[in-house]
Amino acid sequence: MKIRVLGSSAGGGFPQWNCNCRNCNGVRNRTIAAEPRTQSSLAVSVDGVAWLLINASPDILAQLAANPELQPARHARDTGIAAVLLMDAQIDHVTGLLMLREHNAPLPVYATDPVWQDLSTGFPLASILSHYCGVERHVIALDAAPLEIAALPGVRIEALPLSSKAPPYSPHRTAPERGDNIGLLLTSVESGKRAFYAPGLGAVEAHIRDAMRRADLLLVDGTTWTDDEMIRLGLSKKTAADMGHLAQSGRGGMIDVLDALDRPGARKVLIHINNTNPILIDDGPERRTLAQHGIEVARDGMTFEL
Ligand code: MLT
Ligand code: MN
Ligand code: ZN
Repeated sequence: MKIRVLGSSAGGGFPQWNCNCRNCNGVRNRTIAAEPRTQSSLAVSVDGVAWLLINASPDILAQLAANPELQPARHARDTGIAAVLLMDAQIDHVTGLLMLREHNAPLPVYATDPVWQDLSTGFPLASILSHYCGVERHVIALDAAPLEIAALPGVRIEALPLSSKAPPYSPHRTAPERGDNIGLLLTSVESGKRAFYAPGLGAVEAHIRDAMRRADLLLVDGTTWTDDEMIRLGLSKKTAADMGHLAQSGRGGMIDVLDALDRPGARKVLIHINNTNPILIDDGPERRTLAQHGIEVARDGMTFEL
């Protein structure tokens, strides 16, 4: 199983178009050691030809251009994207569906019921796309047997409901529903190796901790370093927790969570990194702290073989 990071940044990207924080300014003007990053998405494949797109980011076109393996060019119109799986209905994870509207058949899309409800109401992508390629919707059932996606044999997918946030436009933003946000445990049938992916993870409940303990690769919420990071920079009124994200530093933060997993050899990688996060600076003190804990920071284009 190959896992390619198409986009490692949180919503807004890095640099964010209108942001002049130290990081955004620094990467734009090349005055800090940091790489630009596109918005949150992964691609998974077994044969390197058919790919499952996990989250369709607004940056999908740039991501496809940067990853020619996903554009095999076998026919006049063609794509390596065999199906799309959505982990929530947030703008950074679904807007890319609009960019895929020229697909020559209904686009296979896997989503939970609450996510599909949001995409049929608050952000009606489902009906918009019906005027273009259309969508072949597949249900991600919770508490069900692992999902096997026809286009991606050899990967078993467990969808785990988790605590994060439905988007601001969700009709039930303030009344969370199970399945608004999911984590994924992906198992390679051939090697038995597992990856756990959760770009939005607000709180680590027991069933999530269990899944994390089973994973050889963890790709988890790296949105902010401190919970009040965006407030202190004067850029937002919301804490990371308000947005459904667990900050890295501090007691009970993501570093503590990752430290407590006792699976030798597991790779721990932060992903969905907000542009304000100091871990984006390659030679900064926060990055050194992460290194001491054996934690890596995802970059666009990073590939894992499991
Ligand atoms: C989030 O992860 O909290 C959202 O994607 C934020 C956004 O895109 O505005
Ligand atoms: Mn996001
Ligand atoms: Zn910024």
